[in-house]
Amino acid sequence: MENKIDHDDIGYNDTPNEHFSEVLDKRISRRNLLRGSVASAISVMMGSSALSACGGGNDDAPVVTKPETPTPSEKLLGFAAVGKSLADSVIVPAGYTATVIYALGDPLTTSSAAYKNDGTDTDFENRAGDHHDGMEFFGLDNSGKPSANGNERGLLAVNHEATTNEKLSSFFIHANGGTNTLPRPAVEVDRETALHGISVVEVRKGASGKWEYVKDSAYNRRVTCLTECDISGPAKGNALMKTKYSPDGSKTRGTLNNCGTGKTPWGSFVTGEENWSGYFTRGAADDAARGNDKSVAALKRYGRSQGAASRHGWETGGSDDKYVRWNNSKLGASTDGTDDYRNEMNGMGYIVEADPYNKTKAMRKRTALGRYAHESAAFGKTVAGQPLAVYMGDDSRNEYIYKFVSSATWSDADANPADMLATGDKYLDSGKLFVAKFAADGSGSWIELSINNAAIAAYATYKFADQADVLVNARLAADAVGATKMDRPEWCSVNPVNGEVYFTLTNNSGRSAPDAANPRSYEDMKGTSTQKGNVNGHILRLKEKDGSASAAFSWDVYLFGAESTANPGMVNLSSLTADQDFSSPDGLAFAKSTGICWIQTDDGAYTDATNCMMLAGVPGQVGDGKKVTLAYAAGNVDTYVGKTPTADTLKRFLVGPVDCELTGIAETPDGKTLFVNIQHPGEGTSQANLADPAKYSSQWPANAGYGAGKRPRSATIAITKNDGGRIGT
Ligand code: FEO
Ligand code: CA
Ligand code: CA
Ligand code: CA
Repeated sequence: MENKIDHDDIGYNDTPNEHFSEVLDKRISRRNLLRGSVASAISVMMGSSALSACGGGNDDAPVVTKPETPTPSEKLLGFAAVGKSLADSVIVPAGYTATVIYALGDPLTTSSAAYKNDGTDTDFENRAGDHHDGMEFFGLDNSGKPSANGNERGLLAVNHEATTNEKLSSFFIHANGGTNTLPRPAVEVDRETALHGISVVEVRKGASGKWEYVKDSAYNRRVTCLTECDISGPAKGNALMKTKYSPDGSKTRGTLNNCGTGKTPWGSFVTGEENWSGYFTRGAADDAARGNDKSVAALKRYGRSQGAASRHGWETGGSDDKYVRWNNSKLGASTDGTDDYRNEMNGMGYIVEADPYNKTKAMRKRTALGRYAHESAAFGKTVAGQPLAVYMGDDSRNEYIYKFVSSATWSDADANPADMLATGDKYLDSGKLFVAKFAADGSGSWIELSINNAAIAAYATYKFADQADVLVNARLAADAVGATKMDRPEWCSVNPVNGEVYFTLTNNSGRSAPDAANPRSYEDMKGTSTQKGNVNGHILRLKEKDGSASAAFSWDVYLFGAESTANPGMVNLSSLTADQDFSSPDGLAFAKSTGICWIQTDDGAYTDATNCMMLAGVPGQVGDGKKVTLAYAAGNVDTYVGKTPTADTLKRFLVGPVDCELTGIAETPDGKTLFVNIQHPGEGTSQANLADPAKYSSQWPANAGYGAGKRPRSATIAITKNDGGRIGT
C-alpha cells in the first residue's frame, strides 16, 4: 500500500487543544503526587480497582443485562489462535468455516446480469457497492417478516465506503483501468458514484445449510451518493443547508464514505459518513469569491481549503447537476446559495438513519448528532424514563470523541415501533451534543456544545449564528471549548457486561515527538522505512459516573497495539504475545450473544509481518490494570494500562487476504453466525498492472472459488462453527 494515499489518515486540527497523550502524562504526574504511600503504589501495581476510584468514577456499575452464560461444553475463546499470515486468503481457527456470500458487483435484482468482473459490467445501481465496511444484521422469520429472533434468515445493511484508486480512477471497475486525467468520462463517474453508499441485502441459510445472499429479495436496496436523503433535526431548513438542489435546505443527495455503523434501540440502522470532504473540489480563488466570509474558516476546518482537488474528479463528468454538485465553490450570484453548491458539503458528515425493512423511505440525516468524520454510533444501555446516549468518534488525526444525549426519555414501548424513522425523529432530532475532555487525574468531562456556552458564543475563529451552526460545524465548537485531541477515534461500542464505552484510536502519525508529554510516541521500522508517532494505536475505555447522561467519567487504556517483539517497557505495554499482537485497531464491537469484544484492524504499519486481522477479547473493566513507566531519554513518563491479557482473554481469530482491511461485525441473535467484511483486498496493486492478474497483490475472493475473473473484490463472509456452536467459543 506504499504507493497509495491513505484517505483514512488525514488531519485538519491545528488548534492548540491538548492531545490525549498529554493528558495521560499529566494524569500520571498528578497521580504520583496524590499517592505518596508505598501501600497505595503497591495496590496499583497489583491491579486493584484503585484507579477508577482515584479517577473519580463510582463503584456502582450500571445494572445491565448480562450476556447469556456459556453452556458447560462451551469455553469463551476456546479456539486455537490463528497465527500471523501474509497468505492471500481468509484464515479462521480449526473447526470454523468462512464462506464468501456477497461481493462487489453481485446483482441485487434478477434483471441484472451476473458480475463478469472484467471492467465491462454496468448497472451498478442494482449491484453490491464497493469497499464493504460497517454492517448490521436485521432478522427475518421463515416467512420473510421482520423478526428480532431471526437466526437463519435476515437482512444485512452494508456500508460501501469507497473504491480502490491509485490516482483518480477506481481502476478495478473499468475495463482499461479508467482515466486519470481531467475531465473524467461520465460513464466512469457514473459507475464510481453508484458504487458508494449502502446496500441492504437479504441473506439466508440455503438448502445446503450454507449462507448465501438472495438475489431476488424484495428487501434488496441500494442507496448511492446520489439518492435523495432527508435532512432531519436542528439543521433542517437552516441557511447553511440551502442549495440549488434543495432551496429550502430540507434535502440532499446521497450518503458518502460510509464507515462505521450502529443499531438503534428501536431496531433501525445508522451509518456514519466519514471522509466525505475529499470528494469535493473548491476553486483556486473561492475564498475571495465568498467575500472571505466565515464559510472559509469552516471549509478549511473540514479539510477543503480553496484550490483543493477532489479525490476522483467527479465534478468534471459533465454539465449535469449530478456532476456539478461535487464543486463546492461559490459560482452563483445569489446571496443564499440557492443557485449553486457552495453549501453542498454541509449536507454530508452525519449519522444517517434507515429503516432496513422499508426501502421506500428516504434515509434521514440526524444533524443533532453533529457533523464530522463519523465512524460508528454506539447506544448506551436503555433505561426507562432516562435519556438515551449515543457515543461517536471523529476519525481524523487529533480529532475528538462526542456523546449525544436525547431530550426524550426512553420508553420500552418504543423497542418495537410501527414506524422506525418516526421513532428516530423522537430520540435523535432533539437533544444535547457533548465533546469529551480528558482530565489529568483519570477523570473526564463531557462539555456541551451549546450556542449558550460563552466560549462558543465568543469564539474568535468562527462566529456561530445559531445552534444549528454549532452542530454543522461541531469541530469548530469543540475547538472553542478545548476538547482533547485524540489519536484518530474509530469505532466505539458499549460493553454489555458493565456499560463501559470502548473506543479504538487507530494510530496517529501526527502525534508529537516522544517526550514527557507523549506516553506513546515512538519509532517502528517497516522494512527500511521508519514510522513515527503512535504507530500501532490503542483502545481507550470510559466509565460513566452516573449512567449514560452523566457529565463525568473515568477512563483507562484497555490495550495498546504493538508487535509482540517490541520493547515491553516503551511500546508493547499490554505484553501482547505472538498470538495477540496487532496494529491499528479500527472496527470494534461487543457481541450481544457472548459478550466477546471483537477487534478488527486497518493497518499499514505491521503489514510486513501480517495481513489485517480480527481478534476476540474478553475485557475486564476500567481500572483493572497497572502502572507502567516509559523511560525516554528526556525523562520518565508513567502511564496506566488495563490488565495484561492472557491466552484466555485475548486471541487472534482471523487473518484476511493481502492488502485488505477487516471491518464490519454483525451476528445472528443466537451468536452462531458472524458476518464480517473483507474490504479492499489487493488495494496495493498498481493500475499499470491491471492487464496482468499475476501482478495483482490479491486475487481474493476469486482464488477462494467465488465469482468470475481475477480482479480482487471487497466481500462479506459468513463465519460458522462446524459443530454448530457460537462464534468465538
Ligand atoms: Fe473508514 Fe476511519 O476508517
Ligand atoms: Ca515493524
Ligand atoms: Ca474505520
Ligand atoms: Ca481506518
